[in-house]
Amino acid sequence: MNHINVKNNVSWVGKIDWELKKFHGNEYSTHRGSTYNSYLIKEEKVALIDTVWAPFSKEFVENLAARIDLSKIDYIIANHAESDHSGALPELMRHIPDTPIYCTKQGVKSLKGHYHQDWNFHVVKTGDRLSLGEKELIFIEAPMLHWPDSMFCYLTGDNILFSNDAFGQHYASEFMFNDLVDQSELMAECIKYYANILTPFSKMVAKKIKEVLSFGLPVDMICTSHGIIWRDNPTRIVEQYLKWADDYQENQITILYDTMWNGTRVMAENIAKGIAAADNAVNVKLFNIAKRDKNDIITEVFKSKAIVVGSPTINRGILTAVAGILEEIKGLKFSGKKAVAFGCYGWSGESVKIITETLQESGFEVVDEGLKVLWNPDEENIKKCIKYGEKFSTA
Ligand code: FEO
Repeated sequence: MNHINVKNNVSWVGKIDWELKKFHGNEYSTHRGSTYNSYLIKEEKVALIDTVWAPFSKEFVENLAARIDLSKIDYIIANHAESDHSGALPELMRHIPDTPIYCTKQGVKSLKGHYHQDWNFHVVKTGDRLSLGEKELIFIEAPMLHWPDSMFCYLTGDNILFSNDAFGQHYASEFMFNDLVDQSELMAECIKYYANILTPFSKMVAKKIKEVLSFGLPVDMICTSHGIIWRDNPTRIVEQYLKWADDYQENQITILYDTMWNGTRVMAENIAKGIAAADNAVNVKLFNIAKRDKNDIITEVFKSKAIVVGSPTINRGILTAVAGILEEIKGLKFSGKKAVAFGCYGWSGESVKIITETLQESGFEVVDEGLKVLWNPDEENIKKCIKYGEKFSTA
């Protein structure tokens, strides 16, 4: 599929990437692939909104040329300069080098930084309008959602918000509308996307949504740059974003650990037992960080009211899988969540202190000094772990 009708004279001309397994280099797992959404608006004037990732440049431009004489494109709108949306610009601009590119001031800097080309840039700000004939595009800057250059645009008449990354999800489907796909898969990909990409910008997410709502523009559709188009009750995802942006948490405690000789695993499982024994309503989940998908774990952390993080001590430090996810968690700036640390040791025993300090630096409310067990847990220490879980569940 290389084209679908979105509404009236608006069509999708993007690329479905069924094979994508990792995004942002190796940073984000895309179990269900992704899409790079580009939109063609053929009114009296013709506008193209965003492009696709560079490996699909030639295919994109060929498909686009099959839809329209490229020289008839009056305006290119670059809502976001990141390569997954601007990657086909060099190939496209080879054909139509003078076509104006509308983007934010930061967008010019980013696009020049990526491609080192002095294209015909037109800087736009919030409230600026571009006439397409009877309809207009209205631009809305959205800095740090999630790059400094990010912006949305809104098509009057058709009442479509082109939101770029916001409200998107890495989800490949032949059925490009929200009402046509599996709802649980869709929402699982949406929350993963929010948790892993937008969490650090939550305050700005809430502010920007309130600002856009204050314009009073009717929104019949939200056309994102990844995944499906929201056409059935599009405000549902907007309301969901407001909840996620507000220190979101469910009644869940997540235990993350890695283990060398199973001692820390035994601790993890017995802490979980204690939590469940004290509160049978709480959802307790365990993840061996070294064996599970990092981004799926981050999503579970996002959903949690509290986390318990464990590592044995190695070389006066912690296992690299635990260090890696703690670094990621730190960058995501979670707030309003409790945490504690645990781990086995043989002699020096620094791991619990290191994890505790990292969790504190990362904005978690660490409720005590953590639980250390010398060598493998014996029966007495297993009881201690259960008690520790019971105590933590009510902390
Ligand atoms: Fe989908 Fe920020 O790029």
